[in-house]
Amino acid sequence: MSDPRPIGMMDSGVGGLSVLQQVRALMPTETILYVADQGHLPYGMRAREEIRTFSEQIAHYLINERQCKILVVACNSASAAALHHLRQRFPQTHIVGMEPAIKPAAEHTKTGVIGVITTQATYQGELMASVIDRFAQGVRVETQVCPRLVLLAEEGAPDTPESRQIVADYLTPLKDAGMDQLVLGCTHFPFLMTQLRAVLGDQIEIVDPAPAVARQTQRILAGMDALNPEGRGEVTYITSGDPLKFERTITRLIADSRPQVRAAGWRDGVFYLLPVSDPSTVNSTRS
Ligand code: DGL
Repeated sequence: MSDPRPIGMMDSGVGGLSVLQQVRALMPTETILYVADQGHLPYGMRAREEIRTFSEQIAHYLINERQCKILVVACNSASAAALHHLRQRFPQTHIVGMEPAIKPAAEHTKTGVIGVITTQATYQGELMASVIDRFAQGVRVETQVCPRLVLLAEEGAPDTPESRQIVADYLTPLKDAGMDQLVLGCTHFPFLMTQLRAVLGDQIEIVDPAPAVARQTQRILAGMDALNPEGRGEVTYITSGDPLKFERTITRLIADSRPQVRAAGWRDGVFYLLPVSDPSTVNSTRS
């Protein structure tokens, strides 16, 4: 049996595309609806309540309006702020979230020092504290909040001396502390792999949880008997920001040369798709 309903994915911006790439690689025939809340980016600097409200409105759109069969919260900040709440609010739908991959890093470290780069929202969340508590006993965890890396990824992750310098400023203290594992605790960061490697060299293992999240999504769908092996693999990218800029960044960051991008906005707390013909109204409908 084939279940043609889409997989819903959400992030504040382009970061979740690092997860989407892995989902597509594993399940190329699935239909995907990807929401980027670029009108409210960066989530990492926002209060938990706010992130929760936006996440709930987007989840409502994807689950109730678009009948998504599963929701992937492809954003560490939204997972930290809202995952528990979303699971309570939408108990009928499987919701997959991001969790800092501290467990594998703690298992593999030889120096006993692991680094975690993240946003402020994820750093402050209970999820991070609980993951460190559960999986990093006896290991030193060096954390660095890196808001400028989110913005670099949104700009298409340019590999310039300036961007390498920004990465170096954040990462050099962790390198000097002796870390041999670096956990990417924000879905925007895998797009900066070239710059990270330039600063860190090739001796430090960089842990990106996206492949594991894609596998988990596939496992859940298989368990629900809800895979769609006969689908055409269509992806629709929806943004509450500038659709033209989003389209350009998608083609730069992932292998999708003609992405189908739609603009969205909010009206009275309801997230909705704007008509195709009227992208100029995007900005006026942001909350
Ligand atoms: N991609 C996000 C995360 O994983 C959010 C970054 C942001 O908007 O600050 O945390």
